[in-house]
Amino acid sequence: MWKEELKIAIDTARLAGNYLLENWSLSSVTLSSKHKDIKLSGDIESENRILSYISEHSRYPILSEERGKNVEFDISDTTIYWIIDPIDGSLNYNRDIPLACVSIALWKGEKPLLGAIYDFNRDEMYSRIVGQKLVINEREIDLTDLIREKKDAVIATGFPSGRAYDDHSLMGFVKKVQEYKKVRLIGSAALSLAWVACGRIDAYSEDGIYLWDIAAGLALLGSSKYEVSKLPGTEYKYYVLAGNVS
Ligand code: IPD
Ligand code: CA
Repeated sequence: MWKEELKIAIDTARLAGNYLLENWSLSSVTLSSKHKDIKLSGDIESENRILSYISEHSRYPILSEERGKNVEFDISDTTIYWIIDPIDGSLNYNRDIPLACVSIALWKGEKPLLGAIYDFNRDEMYSRIVGQKLVINEREIDLTDLIREKKDAVIATGFPSGRAYDDHSLMGFVKKVQEYKKVRLIGSAALSLAWVACGRIDAYSEDGIYLWDIAAGLALLGSSKYEVSKLPGTEYKYYVLAGNVS
């Protein structure tokens, strides 16, 4: 089950990622730069290509970062819908920092069914149907569950564009990362989750992250490996803690 949809996710992530690589000049075309957020022509062009490919190959509705919902639909326990981030790591793409990806997920209600994340700089395709094995470039990955203690663990995190940067809020961040051996801020929530899934890092946490940034990444992990909660009063913002840390 879901094999056909996984193929759609993989094909469209690759199509958009290759487009972004081949049209690198798009990375310097900034459409807007408000406060801590940036929107590039690449975000829109990548999303356009993903939306037309998925609409041609699947009937499920789509929630995407730039356009929102492609048709009106309610997210209930039985709704199946695509969640798209056309570039996760837009600022990295803009600055030629090779840490960005395309992220495509299929969800049912508030839970992932499958996800594909394409790291186009490294030609690495991470994919998984929930309940099955993680696959990287057609290779199934057998991971032994390595649980580390916080003091030995590497955690990735990030600063969502809407977060507070005042001293008090940043102190909360400092306190959290002090418990870990090392911290990484790679500028892509989706890639951070993919790296937790394949064991390169041990944990990922972010507070106020958007659903499209994490939707495919959560599908790469077993549900025992993450906790998510929607922030009160928001539609798509979440707190996430994922990983293999005791
Ligand atoms: C951003 C990245 C970053 C995270 C920000 C996100 P974008 O997504 O995932 O790692 O810290 O919260 O907004 O804007 O590049 O899609
Ligand atoms: Ca994005």
